[in-house]
Amino acid sequence: MAAALPWLIFAFILLLASIKSSTASRMAKPGCRETCGNFTIPYPFGIGEGCFREGFDVSCVNNSVYRHNSSSRLEIYNISLAGGQARLSTLIASNCFNSPGGWASLNTGKFFTVSTKANKLTAVGCNTLAFLVGFNEYSAGAGCFSMCTDKQSVDDSGQCSGMGCCQTSIAPNLISSNITFDNRFNNSEVREFNPCSYAFVAEQDWFKFEPSYLEGEKFTEKFKDVVPTVLDWVAGNEYCDEAVKNMSSYACISKNGHCINSLNATGYLCACNDGFEGNPYLEEGCQDINECSFPDQYPCNGICSNMIGNYSCSCKSGTQSIDPKRETCDPITASERARLTKMFTGISACAILLLICIFALLMECQKRKLVKEKKIFFQQNGGLLLYEQIRSKQVDTVRIFTREELENATNNFDSSRELGRGGHGTVYKGILKDSRVVAIKRSKVMNMTQKDEFAQEMIILSQINHRNVVKLLGCCLEVEVPMLVYECIPNGTLFELLHGKNKRLSISLDTRLRIAQESAEALAYLHSSAYPPIVHGDVKSPNILLGDNYTAKVTDFGASMMLTTDEIQFMTLVQGTIGYLDPEYLQERQLTEKSDVYSFGVVLLELITMKFAIYSDSAGERKNLASSFLLAMKENGLQSILDKDILEFGMELLQEVAQLAKSCLSVKGEERPLMTEVAERLKSIRVTWREQLIQNPSTETEYLLESSSDYDPSSTGQHRSLMALDLESGR
Ligand SMILES: *[C@@H]1O[C@H](CO)[C@@H](O)[C@H](O)[C@H]1NC(C)=O
Ligand SMILES: *[C@@H]1O[C@H](CO)[C@@H](O)[C@H](O)[C@H]1NC(C)=O
Ligand SMILES: *[C@@H]1O[C@H](CO)[C@@H](O)[C@H](O)[C@H]1NC(C)=O
Ligand SMILES: *[C@@H]1O[C@H](CO)[C@@H](O)[C@H](O)[C@H]1NC(C)=O
Ligand SMILES: *[C@@H]1O[C@H](CO)[C@@H](O)[C@H](O)[C@H]1NC(C)=O
Ligand SMILES: *[C@@H]1O[C@H](CO)[C@@H](O)[C@H](O)[C@H]1NC(C)=O
Ligand SMILES: *[C@@H]1O[C@H](CO)[C@@H](O)[C@H](O)[C@H]1NC(C)=O
Ligand SMILES: *[C@@H]1O[C@H](CO)[C@@H](O)[C@H](O)[C@H]1NC(C)=O
Ligand SMILES: *[C@@H]1O[C@H](CO)[C@@H](O)[C@H](O)[C@H]1NC(C)=O
Repeated sequence: MAAALPWLIFAFILLLASIKSSTASRMAKPGCRETCGNFTIPYPFGIGEGCFREGFDVSCVNNSVYRHNSSSRLEIYNISLAGGQARLSTLIASNCFNSPGGWASLNTGKFFTVSTKANKLTAVGCNTLAFLVGFNEYSAGAGCFSMCTDKQSVDDSGQCSGMGCCQTSIAPNLISSNITFDNRFNNSEVREFNPCSYAFVAEQDWFKFEPSYLEGEKFTEKFKDVVPTVLDWVAGNEYCDEAVKNMSSYACISKNGHCINSLNATGYLCACNDGFEGNPYLEEGCQDINECSFPDQYPCNGICSNMIGNYSCSCKSGTQSIDPKRETCDPITASERARLTKMFTGISACAILLLICIFALLMECQKRKLVKEKKIFFQQNGGLLLYEQIRSKQVDTVRIFTREELENATNNFDSSRELGRGGHGTVYKGILKDSRVVAIKRSKVMNMTQKDEFAQEMIILSQINHRNVVKLLGCCLEVEVPMLVYECIPNGTLFELLHGKNKRLSISLDTRLRIAQESAEALAYLHSSAYPPIVHGDVKSPNILLGDNYTAKVTDFGASMMLTTDEIQFMTLVQGTIGYLDPEYLQERQLTEKSDVYSFGVVLLELITMKFAIYSDSAGERKNLASSFLLAMKENGLQSILDKDILEFGMELLQEVAQLAKSCLSVKGEERPLMTEVAERLKSIRVTWREQLIQNPSTETEYLLESSSDYDPSSTGQHRSLMALDLESGR
């Protein structure tokens, strides 16, 4: 960095130098003195050998510029390159009464002529006749006469009117001149107020006559002995077409310059091309004009960009004008632009606002639609009826849940919360806000025509309160198919207990009988608690849940309301309950309490045979448990079909249970016992059996009784591993 610093400074100086040389284009020849005092001497004029074109030699004395080689001392006041003119001093001729015969001659020199347009011959005096005798191609002359006999007759208006002062034009292209006076008109008679007469060739309009000048002192005091005269000059005395032929003498050598014929003298001048400025007599004299820096001379109402020898002016994109150099680029003026910007921001703000409004409106619509949908579902599902009932305190055990409540409880029906999935729908484990654990049943579909009855059914079901019936806590009506909320039963289903993975566990006969009895009591309660009776319709081991200590809890009752005449749904139902289904129902398609009795019979068989309702025998043949049992009963082969684990408890007892099952499985409904009778029968069988055990205690009695006790902790201990299993609890 430090090493680079001198280089940087050097580069900076070079840059400055180049800027200076390019911006202030030189007027003098390179290497020559350019100024004298504050007078700039442009080439072809120049001071010193090699610095001027032939005939343009000047000298600089006491900060004044003089024609170098003239007979008279001619000071140059001004040089115009473009006009081909120069202002310089010439002598005044004076003629006094006491020293007559004054004259003033001028020799312009080569390439210079006295400008006829710019000058006038002027004489000051009374009784004066001044002559100019000159030479161009020919001899030429001019003269003017002034006459005033006394002081009063002098014109004091400042005009050279012939009274004290006269003026006249001179011949063109004079290269030499001599100003003289006619001696016949002298100042002897007017000497009192006008001792001397004066005559000169001076710049037109320069001289302003005053009567006091006639007295002499004032005149000499003011002008000394010189006046400014304009000379025309040319670079050469031939015209352009001739001059260009001799390149060794041709003056217009600038790259961007050209030749023009002089209008004021015979010869040619040089000029820079359009778009350039500088000295056309120098090789690098004509420089490009940066027009964009001079907007007054080079107007541009759009975007100005300089080019070599020209400039372009264009309107901003999106605005139009035929010629932005003359016309304004419409319509974007500064105020206009501000207005447009304001307008645009206004419009965009409006648009954004509008979008927000639309969005909000859509959201509101969606919300309303949802609310409306909920309301429709609520009404369809008999919500109003239920609501009325609840309000009138007729129903106080059932609660109507909102959709959000259940969604929150089940983590939006997350699959990890699934407890089971069956033909009717899916059961989810839900945790309510009050941290109560519930089972939420979400059915697949429901027949529209039966929806009206749903609420009625709900009311009935909600009034069911039995220790062996799973309690219905509430429902949600805001969805297409109502969801049911039950109490959650933790220990799985009877089906799992009998046929689950832990088949190795032996379940005591007492437990089995108790489960059977409790289930029967639950069904009996359903059948008798309401009119018309509540038919469970789907009694099977998966629908008997197990609570603490394997308390039976019947669930999924009231399936009848889900039943339909729809063939496909009917088939689904038949498939789901095959093996349990009342054969009468298959014919009549009419569910009755007796249908439940038949199904219960099959469950009872499951309990004592540990076989599936439809099972594969040792030969791998699929068999219907009910049919096989009835056949075995008929052939006195009961022992072969019963569970080996319970055979030891005496055939007498098992025979009784088998008889009960058989009566339940009667083909004709009327021949089957009522559910209450079944429950009673089971109860008495159990009691008899327990009494027998106490009367004839054996080695296993203690264990059997203990394990059969409803509240015996060792019973639960025995099945701890089973309880620990994550079963389809709740179903
Ligand atoms: C020339 O320069 C002098 C000072 O150096 C100044 O007084 C004078 O007015 C200048 N003349 C012109 C015509 O600029
Ligand atoms: C220059 O001016 C000074 C005084 O201003 C004068 O003495 C001198 O003679 C002049 N030189 C010439 C060459 O006129
Ligand atoms: C310059 O002066 C010399 C002698 O004084 C004269 O011979 C010559 O013609 C003059 N040149 C011009 C251009 O006036
Ligand atoms: C030279 O001419 C220009 C205009 O053409 C003028 O402004 C300037 O004053 C003149 N210089 C002298 C010394 O007369
Ligand atoms: C010719 O004379 C006129 C009047 O004095 C002047 O304006 C012009 O610049 C001169 N030069 C040219 C080349 O016309
Ligand atoms: C000018 O004219 C006068 C009178 O005619 C004469 O004496 C003088 O020599 C002339 N001057 C020139 C340079 O010709
Ligand atoms: C002046 O003019 C008068 C006539 O107007 C003449 O008689 C006299 O000689 C002239 N004087 C001179 C010196 O020429
Ligand atoms: C060309 O110009 C030079 C110098 O001015 C001169 O010596 C020569 O005679 C000229 N030639 C022609 C053909 O005019
Ligand atoms: C400059 O450009 C304009 C058009 O942009 C054209 O008409 C004009 O002739 C050009 N002038 C020069 C000197 O190139």
